[in-house]
Amino acid sequence: MHDVIDIAVAPLSSACGAEIKGVDLTKELSEPTVRAIKQAWGKHLVLVFRGQSITQDQQLRFASYFGDLGNRRKAPEQLRSRAEGIRQDNEKVLLVSNIKVDGQPIGAFGEGEFWFHIDSGYTPRPYKYTFLYALELPSSGGNTMFSNMYMAYDAVPPSLKEKLKGKKALHIHEYKRAEKADVSGDISHIPHHYHPVFITHPDTGRKTLFVDRLMTSRIEGVDARESDAILEQLYAIGERREFIYEHVWQLGDFLMWDNRCTIHARTDFPKEEPRLLRRCTVEGEPLHE
Ligand code: OGA
Ligand code: MN
Repeated sequence: MHDVIDIAVAPLSSACGAEIKGVDLTKELSEPTVRAIKQAWGKHLVLVFRGQSITQDQQLRFASYFGDLGNRRKAPEQLRSRAEGIRQDNEKVLLVSNIKVDGQPIGAFGEGEFWFHIDSGYTPRPYKYTFLYALELPSSGGNTMFSNMYMAYDAVPPSLKEKLKGKKALHIHEYKRAEKADVSGDISHIPHHYHPVFITHPDTGRKTLFVDRLMTSRIEGVDARESDAILEQLYAIGERREFIYEHVWQLGDFLMWDNRCTIHARTDFPKEEPRLLRRCTVEGEPLHE
């Protein structure tokens, strides 16, 4: 018997992003369907499934088709209050929310704007993939923007590519969303890791730009002022409008993205309006130029 794969892939922008139609994420998926999704993912980097109604277990089952589920990163003791919520009872799940119960946040990432970043880019093995499902949304704003970092890499001037060949950059996270970590003093207590400025995507073999405004702070072996100037130039390339798909959420939207070749950010939203999304990830691996 032939397995009929009846999914449709509709691109959402010329940068990245595609909507997948014809998949019910409450169901177990056949291998050919998963293969078709992987193929579309490799091409579009960010996939959107609309109108889904899935439990936490169904979300985790779907994510596990793409690798080993990621554990929530534990913040060091002194930063924990910024990173943890009180309703986080499964180590594979992170609630992304501004909701508070009895004055305590139920999840992470609170309110407001969130600068461009790579999920867990400050660790030795940044998550390969992130999966985010919308449960409660504000009346406007809180859009998630994704930038295609293959395109960004291609747009880096050849002379700068040459200059940065073999160079690594510091990725560091103090659990703030619109402010860089302070790297002027001792950073040993702040989670950080050095990754190449340009990485080769482990699956596609394509080069991609691996820096972001929120967490990338310093290029190793380059004088601080010059490093700042170069990073500003690289952030600006990564955030060029023509490389970005901006997702306007609807309830029931399920998104998945590849953290090795995209960066993402969130726009501001009315802070008194509840927003709740459920996130899980797939564990990553060390990255190389
Ligand atoms: C995330 C994230 C953005 C958003 O969950 O990793 O960056 O729109 N979320 O809340
Ligand atoms: Mn994120």
